[in-house]
Amino acid sequence: MQVHVSNDSAASVTAGALVVPVFAGEALDGVASEVDHVLGGAIADVLSSGEIAGKLNETSLVHAKDAPFKRVLVIGLGERAKLTPSVIAKYAGTAVRFLGKRGVDSIAIALPDSVDASLAGSFAAEGAIAATLDTTIYRSGAPEKPVVTKTVAIVCGNADRGALEAGVQRGAVLGEAVNAARRMALTPANDMTPTHLAGRAKELAADAGLEIDVLDEARMRELGMGSLLGVSSGSDQPATLSVMTYKGDASSRDTVALVGKGLTFDSGGISIKPAENMHEMKYDMSGGAGVIAAMWAIGKLKPRINVIGLVPSSENLPGPSAMKPGDILRAMNGKTIEVLNTDAEGRLILADALCYARKLGATKIVDAATLTGACVIALGHAASGAMSNDDAFVERFLKVVGDIGERYWPLPLYPDFDQQIKSDIADLKNTGGRPGGAETAGAFLKAFVEDTPWIHLDVAGTAYLDSESPFMAKGPTGTPVRAFVSIVEDLAKNGTPSNGVAKSTVAALA
Ligand code: BES
Ligand code: MN
Ligand code: ZN
Repeated sequence: MQVHVSNDSAASVTAGALVVPVFAGEALDGVASEVDHVLGGAIADVLSSGEIAGKLNETSLVHAKDAPFKRVLVIGLGERAKLTPSVIAKYAGTAVRFLGKRGVDSIAIALPDSVDASLAGSFAAEGAIAATLDTTIYRSGAPEKPVVTKTVAIVCGNADRGALEAGVQRGAVLGEAVNAARRMALTPANDMTPTHLAGRAKELAADAGLEIDVLDEARMRELGMGSLLGVSSGSDQPATLSVMTYKGDASSRDTVALVGKGLTFDSGGISIKPAENMHEMKYDMSGGAGVIAAMWAIGKLKPRINVIGLVPSSENLPGPSAMKPGDILRAMNGKTIEVLNTDAEGRLILADALCYARKLGATKIVDAATLTGACVIALGHAASGAMSNDDAFVERFLKVVGDIGERYWPLPLYPDFDQQIKSDIADLKNTGGRPGGAETAGAFLKAFVEDTPWIHLDVAGTAYLDSESPFMAKGPTGTPVRAFVSIVEDLAKNGTPSNGVAKSTVAALA
């Protein structure tokens, strides 16, 4: 699908359908009243009849006579005071899913008046593209209700056209990246092996002009990655560690590392999971897919910053050589780990990847993983958990991702959680019991980033959803692609001060 900026005004644009925004609790104005005029009052009728009230994502379709557009789709944006960029993404996505499934192949989307053109353009393009993903790729025959839309024109109004065009281009890259991550996650584990995931990383790296290095098990062994290798020992599928490199700032020694859990199937291993819902564990590589897709987007968007993306990938199965409860693994940094539950495997593969990120020179690290069921209990499917060893870094992150369409909520890494994962026999144990399960997993990872400023994102509740929305199909959501790209862009724009790990001390309070 092509998204571009139209030269025409809303009232004169040629399209299969024109999409017009209305706000809740107010009279028609701006672009809606302009189009209402062309339609002889039809939009005003939709509202006065009570058919829709302008609430978020409400839709009403009006057929147009004697207009260059054949239909008008009126979509509610909710209250004007609550209009944020991600509302625009949902607006565009709702339009594309509604019209695309009804055979409309060209759509013009009018943005509400007086919005930031660059932001609105970006979110509109991203939402429109994310809405097109076909999640039935394994069905034989034609998809039942495909989104057939081929072109989306963003109608400019009085917005700054240059800014709008730049925004649309950025949003198109983000939308494609989100869909690339979702396609990887949709691919079931019999196809999506660690080797296949590394293959996708190679393809996307080549397309975006990134360097890539895929470590095999022999190299992992040389590097002492006993923790990552331990998880793969029960599977015939060898582990891979993909490392993608983007060099955007030759003058800087700072490097941001993005690290994602690429567990292509998590049966739990010897500590096997119950059968119910085990199939969802094909999505356990969503963090890794997020890194690969975000690196692709970064290669296309070219921010002035150096970024490396690391995806440790493995399959967690029971088998004659699988790791067993009680086994002790040694990670790349020499730390020993008592495996009390083989189902707490994500932190094991991330441990070695975090060590390797530091070895490659990372000065800031952000990881994302479908890491714990406990995080889903804490935050539901409404938000991902954000944990950190650096208050200033995570506060900045939370500000940057404030309204990108992915939600993050801080969870604390108190020293208490470090105590909870001390082993009687080794340096660490891989579970701290049920209390604070998301935080003890975070505390475990913290032991491998040492003093590098780091943020851990637990996306177990948000990387996939089993309900669809007006703007997105059910299944993988593309979380955490947007967050990764947003924090990298922000660090590129506003600098990467490496003040080390911020600690609130008495001295700092004086
Ligand atoms: N991949 C799972 C976490 C998960 C659960 C993701 C539900 C998405 C939805 C992870 O590897 C896991 O099994 N975690 C265990 C840890 C426990 C054994 C300490 C969990 O959360 O139960
Ligand atoms: Mn597990
Ligand atoms: Zn897992």
